[in-house]
Amino acid sequence: MSILNKHKILEKNVTLLAIFSFLVVTIGGLVQIVPLFYLENTIEDVEGMRPYTPLELAGREIYLREGCYVCHSQMIRPMRDEVERYGHYSLAVESKYDHPFQWGSKRTGPDLARVGGRYSDEWHVDHLRDPQSVVPESVMPKYGFLEAKLIDGEHIGELMATNRMVGVPYTEEMIDQARRDFANQADPDSDYDGLFERYGDNVNVRNFDGQPGVSEADALIAYLQMLGTLVDFSTFTPDASR
Ligand code: HEC
Repeated sequence: MSILNKHKILEKNVTLLAIFSFLVVTIGGLVQIVPLFYLENTIEDVEGMRPYTPLELAGREIYLREGCYVCHSQMIRPMRDEVERYGHYSLAVESKYDHPFQWGSKRTGPDLARVGGRYSDEWHVDHLRDPQSVVPESVMPKYGFLEAKLIDGEHIGELMATNRMVGVPYTEEMIDQARRDFANQADPDSDYDGLFERYGDNVNVRNFDGQPGVSEADALIAYLQMLGTLVDFSTFTPDASR
């Protein structure tokens, strides 16, 4: 019996065909996917990427809680119109510490992957309070209540420890100092040097919402102002040989 004849058996038996198709798809899938788990260069390491500071991480939690991702993506595709509008296309490494990632698939509002530094803190405060006051045609809801809610980062160390379990390289020291760093980042009069020692120079220390105390708006704006600013694209060159 030739191989062709044997194939006829498969073609005439639906159950066998289903079983064999499933096997072929499974093996094919594994062959494609498994090597990616082991290749070190699946994610290109780029200088500048660092774990989020406690305040930024808290802001990211508020971003998730408020469902900002329902209207905003964080993923600039490598296409000319996107790159001209939003800036350099997103690199895999830029969402390396995102659990879960925020790429998104719906853009009612613009992509936010590089919104950091595009507007002043005051603009963000006004915009969150009343989006229509700065962009009259906006359909974005108001989030003014975030300013009124003061937070003290009570559980931020635990959240960092949890993130560490899934691969974010938070050190013991970062976790120990989490509440301190959390408060100091929003207070330019504080002793915030440790924040730079632990997270590098690229950390914004400001009173983001302009009001006393650390509010949810402070955390959210700290997060927004960091987005897309960690990798320095003036010195970055993609390594096509990988
Ligand atoms: C119902 C959809 C919707 C939701 C939910 C939403 N936005 Fe927006 N957002 C928009 C739209 C539309 C715009 C464009 C008009 C404007 O600037 O207000 C926008 C604009 C923005 C901008 C300015 C972007 C730019 O490049 O000009 C920022 C920053 C922003 N949103 C942040 C947020 C945050 C943070 C949240 C969650 C707290 C959020 N948005 C929730 C619809 C939404």
